[in-house]
Amino acid sequence: MTHHKPILASLTGGKTQRTPCWFMRQAGRYLPEYREVRSSVPDFLSLCYTPKKAAEVTLQPIYRYGMDGAILFSDILVIPDALGQPVRFVEKEGPRLDKITSLKQIDALDVSRTRIHLAPVAETIGRVVPELPDHVTMLGFAGAPWTVACYMLQGRGKEFSEAIQIARAQPALVAALFEKIIPATVSYLQMQIEAGVEALQLFDSWAGLVPDDLFETLVTAPNAKIVAAIRASHPHTPIIGFAKDIGARLTGYARQLGCQGIGIGMDMTMKQARALVGNDVVLQGNLDPELLAINLPEALKQAHIILEDMRDQPFIFNLGHGMVPHCPPEHLAALMQVIRQE
Ligand code: CP3
Repeated sequence: MTHHKPILASLTGGKTQRTPCWFMRQAGRYLPEYREVRSSVPDFLSLCYTPKKAAEVTLQPIYRYGMDGAILFSDILVIPDALGQPVRFVEKEGPRLDKITSLKQIDALDVSRTRIHLAPVAETIGRVVPELPDHVTMLGFAGAPWTVACYMLQGRGKEFSEAIQIARAQPALVAALFEKIIPATVSYLQMQIEAGVEALQLFDSWAGLVPDDLFETLVTAPNAKIVAAIRASHPHTPIIGFAKDIGARLTGYARQLGCQGIGIGMDMTMKQARALVGNDVVLQGNLDPELLAINLPEALKQAHIILEDMRDQPFIFNLGHGMVPHCPPEHLAALMQVIRQE
């Protein structure tokens, strides 16, 4: 039976009448209604841990645009926070953590706190699901171990050269850290499924920074472990693996994870991605969010090309990375119109 929710239908091998879509960071600062709720809480994490408000901002883009997926409002960095490495978000700068430098600090991280600490996130899901229009799939997510470890090891940042240096110089430290992140992430994702999410995305946003010789250890193997654990406990929940900007390594990544969907960043065209993963996997991507923000006509042209290239193939329209705060909300409305007209 083909599911009546286009994203779920696509991820479970069914046919869809139209191209399903959702957008990474669809809930966020580009929306005035988000900024209003955000200004009512002292900091970003408080919003993640206040179920009523987190549910409201999860639903905001659905009410405004009617996309096919509602992504849970939370963050990948709630995992270190739950493990006992407190995270704060500094306005206009980003996350800050006290770096992990020793095995002793890793030993102190407590996986058993995950579900208690993140219970508000389960409550958010419970509040969102009954409000969703029939066509909308509830999407959960977590960060992949390497991407989460980048912040835990470096405390902040974008380049993550320091995290890569640590991975080279102290492989045992990183292995020990993954031994905490992986079970916490599995437990968090299982909790999300039990609370009502219907599909999952694993974000490995910084996978593209990993050198080839470390790729299996830092990216493919840990992602595959999480996928296998979820497959074992919840075999019917589809998973989208999004290891951003990994180029030709996509072939091995997709094969080893064996997940239903693969997200594509902006390092290749959707056509190139299709050639790398074959025809069985659902591809998701990959319009440039910066282009959508600053050059709408060109973005819509690119959207047409993506839709044309993916026609009659298993495909979910998305961006190559998250919505940027300076994107005018009307630009996403115009993009939705193009996707819906196909
Ligand atoms: O709409 C959605 O996609 C749902 C929620 C969501 C957020 N973060 C909310 C958020 C999701 C799925 C994420 C994932 C996330 N968080 C990733 C992976 C995807 C990616 O962007 O690569 C990463 C690396 C993070 C870590 C993170 N969270 C950083 C580095 C920052 C600061 C930079 C920034 O954009 O501000 C955040 C903050 C954050 N997460 C915001 C939102 C809406 C903005 C904070 C605010 O409102 O003050």
